[in-house]
Amino acid sequence: MNQLQQEIKRRRTFAIISHPDAGKTTLTEKLLLLGGAIRTAGAVKSRKAEKFATSDWMELEKKRGISVTSSVMQFEYDGYKINILDTPGHQDFSEDTYRTLMAVDSVVMIIDAAKGVEPQTIKLFKVCRDRGIPIFTFINKLDRQGKEPLELFEEIEKVLGIESYPINYPIGMGQSFRGVYDRQEHKIEWYNEKRERQVQSLSDVDELSDILRDSVDDFTLGQLEENLMLLDEAGATFDLEAVKEGKQTPVFFGSAISSFGVPTFLEHYLKLAPQPQPRQSSKAVVQPDDTDFSGFVFKIQANMNPAHRDRIAFLRICSGRFEKGMSVYLDRTGKQLKLAQPQQFFADSREMIDEAYPGDIVGLYDTGFYQIGDTVCSAKDTYNFGALPQFSPEHFAKVRAKNAMKQKHFLKGVSQLAQEGAIQVYKTPYEETILGVVGTLQFDVFVYRMQAEYGVDLEIEHMPHQVAKWIAKREDAEALRRNANNLIVSDYKDRPVIIFENDFSLRWFQQKHPDVELRDSSHNM
Ligand code: G4P
Repeated sequence: MNQLQQEIKRRRTFAIISHPDAGKTTLTEKLLLLGGAIRTAGAVKSRKAEKFATSDWMELEKKRGISVTSSVMQFEYDGYKINILDTPGHQDFSEDTYRTLMAVDSVVMIIDAAKGVEPQTIKLFKVCRDRGIPIFTFINKLDRQGKEPLELFEEIEKVLGIESYPINYPIGMGQSFRGVYDRQEHKIEWYNEKRERQVQSLSDVDELSDILRDSVDDFTLGQLEENLMLLDEAGATFDLEAVKEGKQTPVFFGSAISSFGVPTFLEHYLKLAPQPQPRQSSKAVVQPDDTDFSGFVFKIQANMNPAHRDRIAFLRICSGRFEKGMSVYLDRTGKQLKLAQPQQFFADSREMIDEAYPGDIVGLYDTGFYQIGDTVCSAKDTYNFGALPQFSPEHFAKVRAKNAMKQKHFLKGVSQLAQEGAIQVYKTPYEETILGVVGTLQFDVFVYRMQAEYGVDLEIEHMPHQVAKWIAKREDAEALRRNANNLIVSDYKDRPVIIFENDFSLRWFQQKHPDVELRDSSHNM
């Protein structure tokens, strides 16, 4: 195995998906603490704590500055190099959140034991399922009373449509939480106030009852025995191939706040999760250990200083070794460029780097050069990894320049900010501009940036619509356009999109037009 292959083998790149408040910040922080990437708790900012007025740009900027450094975090554990990609929630929720999932090799899904599968998790999960990437589940907050584990598995299977395989199983819950039992390795991991890791090995599951008799009440023990038996007899068998295809999710239990179950989860995860995977390109499948360097831009973040309009392009490395200052080709233009000032991100800082490997994310200083989905490669005979899909927005607004004389600047700004992936832009048949976003904060950022960077004051008219779907076949769109009741617009690639006021009108439409295929994203269109 050469050095490149060794570096690839030890890399794991994942994102954490969850609904706000499930414990993503807490788990991320405990993982970073384990890896020694941060020394104190509290270093990873919980964004919800930063209450700010969205109209106050300086606050917004500060916030976004923080999200630059914490949007990719690297740490080492047990010889592995781990990259965690942040998926912002709350008001920050944007298409970036979805697109980040295009740049990872696996995903960790956190579920709050009391709340079960929540809406934002479902949305993000769907994107992972479409990509067929492995999903690992961490059920959190076992120190509190939550839903019964079997109920949670059923929910995962019913709501998300994925089979679950609990690697470990909780012993009690809330007040009576005693720890977890590892079903494969027959170990009890005791939950204790001192937060020490206490693991006890058993010869088999039969020993469990004898050991637990003194520490749990009869009811809890009886239920545990019954549920473990049920899982063994009627539950799924562990299937690593199904995990790799995203069809089965290994499930772990814990309490992130006390770090309980976190090292165990991480160690299993590192063994089971895939290293950086080959990717299909316009030419051939690109192997990570290909000596030719390649990568793609999955996110562009406007930087702290709006006066300079500088940005950071986040590049996911797909193959080869990255070296500071190396020359590559940008497939979109065929032009050669130097990858200068590459940065890597840590929990609370960013640093210049000299080298990086497949699975790693490097931040490239960008003066407006890159677009979302751009591929760069060292091979002169360039190729690309395909456009990144767009995802169904949930908020819409009509925009126009207040001053009609500024129309040229308006169109330029709209088109550039759309290329950056900050918003989606649609045109109506009457040449009106409609913006679509998945989180409303994006509107505020857009209005501000149009003013600050393009000198255009906007008139913005919010629309009541909530759902957009791509129409798979153009001939369907043509037929539907004849009925003035359908709001059919075109995206920036001229693909037809239909916009509905709510889910009810969507369902009504689907009943009336069962043959029209509608899609949630522009994946493969
Ligand atoms: P998020 O990033 O997914 O939004 O969640 P975050 O980690 O910020 O956690 C949300 C809340 O849940 C926080 O409490 C956090 O302390 C709590 N929490 C996280 N993990 C656990 C756990 O294992 N058990 C229990 N009981 N609580 C947990 P908060 O009161 O909203 O904020 P804070 O003041 O504690 O920071």
